This record gives sequence, structure tokens and C-alpha cells, in this order.
Amino acid sequence: MQKPHIRIATLILMIVSFIAYVAKFPAFPIASENLLPWSVWFFILALANIILWQSVIKLLSFSLMVIWFYAFAASVVPDTSTATVDLSSIERTPEAFVEAGEIIFNGKGKCNTCHTLDPSAPKGRCPDLSVIGSQAGTRKPGVSAKDYLIESTYEPHKFLVTGYGNIMPPVWKPPISLSELEIETVIAFLQNQGGDVDLTPFDPPVDIESAADVVEELPPLLSGDVERGKRVFVDGAKCIACHAVAGVEQPAGQTLDDGVEVVAAPDLSEIAALNSLRYIEESILLPNALIVSGYGSVTVKTGGASIQGTLVSQDNENITLRVKDAAGVETEQQIRLSELDPEPIEALTDLNANGYFWIQAALADTGETISGDLLEEDEENITLQDGGETLTVSKSKVKVQATIIDFDENVIVGELVAENEDEITLNVDGEEQTIDKFDIDEGPTYSRAFGKRLYVTSPMPNNFPLLLSVGDMSDLLAYLSTLTGTVEAAVAEGESQDEAVEETAE
Ligand code: HEC
Ligand code: HEC
Repeated sequence: MQKPHIRIATLILMIVSFIAYVAKFPAFPIASENLLPWSVWFFILALANIILWQSVIKLLSFSLMVIWFYAFAASVVPDTSTATVDLSSIERTPEAFVEAGEIIFNGKGKCNTCHTLDPSAPKGRCPDLSVIGSQAGTRKPGVSAKDYLIESTYEPHKFLVTGYGNIMPPVWKPPISLSELEIETVIAFLQNQGGDVDLTPFDPPVDIESAADVVEELPPLLSGDVERGKRVFVDGAKCIACHAVAGVEQPAGQTLDDGVEVVAAPDLSEIAALNSLRYIEESILLPNALIVSGYGSVTVKTGGASIQGTLVSQDNENITLRVKDAAGVETEQQIRLSELDPEPIEALTDLNANGYFWIQAALADTGETISGDLLEEDEENITLQDGGETLTVSKSKVKVQATIIDFDENVIVGELVAENEDEITLNVDGEEQTIDKFDIDEGPTYSRAFGKRLYVTSPMPNNFPLLLSVGDMSDLLAYLSTLTGTVEAAVAEGESQDEAVEETAE
């Protein structure tokens, strides 16, 4: 080559651009716009050096290019499960916050393992967040969009979106452990989904630092045997028949006990990363305590017929059930909640817990019949909403219907007037009838009201507390606590952290 100074200048510029690229300098400004990032400068200069130079420097340029290539490839294909961003020098602009928030949403925050950002996505166990920016301000009366999002991330248990359970972890707690700033960026990203980004600083409702100390003291040392626990999971309790876990196979030919049907169930590969051990334990011992939305089973009555299926989704007006016909073919069926048949209610207690959402009752003093959506219930009163009107009635003022079957198989239905140890008096069609209790074959059964209900139960077997010994249970929990996704699971299996990290990087 004729002009050594051009070669030397190209070499120096290549080294400078490489350092600038590695050190993440802001892009080289051309006409005050960040047009070409350092990686592109480096690429052009390295190519020039490979062409211009011979021997050692050609080799050096080539090696740097290989390093660049791997770094570039890695940045183009981000590792979405652990992707995180450096927020130390983030600019306080909506663009920068939204961009960082998106990475955290899909990475460290693990939000995307539960939430979708696509309104057409099948309704899962967690709300879709594609329009949360505009929805947030309407969730709780008097609470602004931003305050709602702050509460949803710091204290998700405080308000549960209708139809969803209390399973969202407070995102500042381990294992997700987002910092205040990270949460701010995620909130900006959520506001950007259909709303305006508002970066006004706020006081977090939880002091993460002092709360974190308390959290750290809590996790118990699991004394269970992980390997044994895995055998309980796969062979003993046959959890694997319903629940998938990445890398674990169901033994060929495994059958479930009589009466237990394989059903769609949540994937448990990351269960411990997303939930507390207490929640996991409760899920096994009391499957009905909290039912993962999208998996519960319900039986509803409509038009005199009973329909049994999986509750796929619900809103204020409709429910969607996945129903299996006799041939085993599954179809989805939408049912209007208002078209469910009212069923007799024997005792006016725990109406909510029993799934009642609409009540009809007759008042004893006026004879008037009232009905409406169940708003509230306490020991003495129930409050119904009928159109715009709310009515509170005392449970003791509700007419009681009694049904009696005598030994001649006559069915007598009437309003309960009086009852003592020996006799019962009913008002049957305006006439009072007193019946000796010795003459009663069946009953009396009482009905205090009629109600429409949606009673969701878990299809998961509820006899594990009987089947599993205390030792099985502690081994099982020790095993489940290793299901946190890749890295930690490998660590728990006895490898050092470094090896495990290398393994996932490969
Ligand atoms: C283990 C699953 C899970 C994870 C992980 C999770 N969430 Fe949630 N989230 C839920 C569920 C379930 C609800 C609905 C119940 C409730 O309101 O708490 C919810 C509700 C919300 C809501 C209110 C939605 C609405 O429609 O009003 C917001 C906002 C939200 N999550 C944000 C996040 C963010 C941000 C992250 C990540 C940092 C995250 N969630 C991680 C399960 C999860
Ligand atoms: C017959 C199928 C079936 C079997 C067997 C079964 N489960 Fe489940 N499990 C389900 C269904 C369906 C759900 C979701 C509904 C619910 O929340 O109860 C669930 C929920 C769970 C959850 C909560 C998951 C989440 O994402 O929040 C855990 C944890 C769990 N099961 C653990 C187990 C363990 C451990 C075993 C074995 C001892 C087991 N299950 C056996 C069907 C099953």
C-alpha cells in the first residue's frame, strides 16, 4: 500500500470505535443526530483494516470483528428471560422510561410470563394489559391511572381484577426484586399501552429497603430431599399427569386413580419464581382456596339443563365455558350470566363464597318480592342492586318457604309461619296448615331465597392431604421450590452458580 498514514489512521480509528462500542459511548453525532452507532463505525473500519493491512494487523482486525460479531449477535437476540437494563444514567424522558420498562416487563420483571399485551390473546390466568394505560383510571372510583398502577405493582393484593385470583407477586419482593426505579419504568411502559406517560415522581407505598430485610429473614430452610420430592411429583402423586414441567417426562403408561381425570393445568416450570412457597403449599393442600383463572370447573344451570365445563373467562355479562361432549370433543360455549336459572337457597349465609351473584327474595312483612345483583352481605343484612337502586334488607325479614313430604308422598310447600318441636305451621296458598312432625317423612327443607350462582371449583384432586405423608410433602415442596426456570434449578441440583450460568449461556 502506498499511503501508510491512511492505514495507520484507519487502524487508530478502528481501535477508538471498538473501545467506544465496548464502553457504550453515546453514538457518534452527525449533524446533531445519532445516526450511526459505534458498532457500525467499528464494522466499517474493521473491514477497511482487513483490506488495507497484511499479517498481524489483518489478524487483529479480524479477531476484533469476531468479538464484535458475537457481541452484536447477542444484543440483537436478547435473552428475554433475564434481560435487564442499566438505569444508572437513564434520562427522565417518556421515551427512555417506556423503552426500559418494556425490557423489564419482558425480562427481569417476568410480567410476560403471566400477562399478555395482545387483546386477541386467549384469556389466561392473568389480565391482558394491552390497553391498561386507559383502563387503569377506570378500575377504582376516584383512583387515578397512575395511582392504580402504583398499587397494582407494589400491593397487587389490594384490588383484584374481577375473575382473577390473588396470585400476582408484589414485584419488589424476591424473587422478582424490582427496584423503585425499575418499577417506575414499568409503570411508564404500562401507561404507554393506550394512555399518557406521566413521570411525576411519587412516594412508593412500600419502603422496599426496610421491607426487604423482613422478607429476607423469612424463607425457611427446606429440609426436604429434592430428588425424593421429584419422585413424589412424577411417580407417587402423579402430579406430572396434569402439570407440565420443562425437562420432565410423564412415565409411559402411567394411569391415574379411578375418578381422577387428566385436565388442562398450569405449567409449573417456573412456579417457584412466581409464587411464594406458602402459596404453592396451599395450592396442593387446599386446591379450592385459590383457583387459577382459566382452569376452574363450574356447573351452571340454564334453561333447566346443567352444563359442566371449564371456566375459560368471564366478564360482568358473560362467561365462556370449555365443554366436552360425549365423544370427548371440546367446544367453547358462551353463556349470559343473566340467563342462568335461579336455584333455591337454604341458608342466607356465605352467599358470596358460594358463588351467588343475583338474589331474589320475598319480604315477610309486605309480601313484596325483591331481586337484584348481590352487592354486599354481612351477618344481618344483604344489599342488592336492581338497576340504579340499592336495597338493603334484613335477613330476618325474608320469607321462608318450607317444603315437606308426608308419608302419603304429598309434597307441601308453603310459607313458614311458626315452628316448634312438635309442630310446624305453613301458609299454603293463603290457608294456614299445621302439621304434626310425626307425620313428616322428608323435610322440612327451607328456602329463604332464590339465587343465580357461578360456583367455581378446582379440578385438582383435593385428597393430597390424605395421600401425602408429612415427609412426602416436605420433599415435594423442596422439589417444587427448585422450579424457578433455568439457572436456579441447575444450582439446586448441586452445580456451582458459575457452571449453571455458563450452561444457560451456551
Ligand atoms: C404470577 C403471575 C403474575 C406476574 C408474574 C405478574 N402479574 Fe400482574 N397480575 C396478575 C394477576 C392474576 C392479576 C389480576 C389480579 C389482580 O388484580 O391482582 C394481575 C394484575 C395486574 C395489573 C392490574 C391489571 C388490570 O387490568 O387492572 C397490573 C397493572 C399488573 N398486573 C402489572 C404487572 C407487572 C408490571 C408485572 C411485572 C413486573 C406483573 N404484573 C407480574 C398476575 C401476575
Ligand atoms: C387431575 C389433574 C391434576 C393433578 C393430578 C394435580 N393438579 Fe395441580 N392443578 C390442577 C389444575 C386444573 C390447577 C389449576 C386450578 C387451581 O388453581 O386449582 C392446578 C393448580 C396447581 C397449582 C397452582 C398453580 C399456579 O400456577 O398457580 C400448583 C402449585 C399445583 N397445582 C401443584 C400440584 C401438585 C404438586 C400436584 C401433585 C401432588 C398436583 N398439582 C396434581 C390439576 C391437577
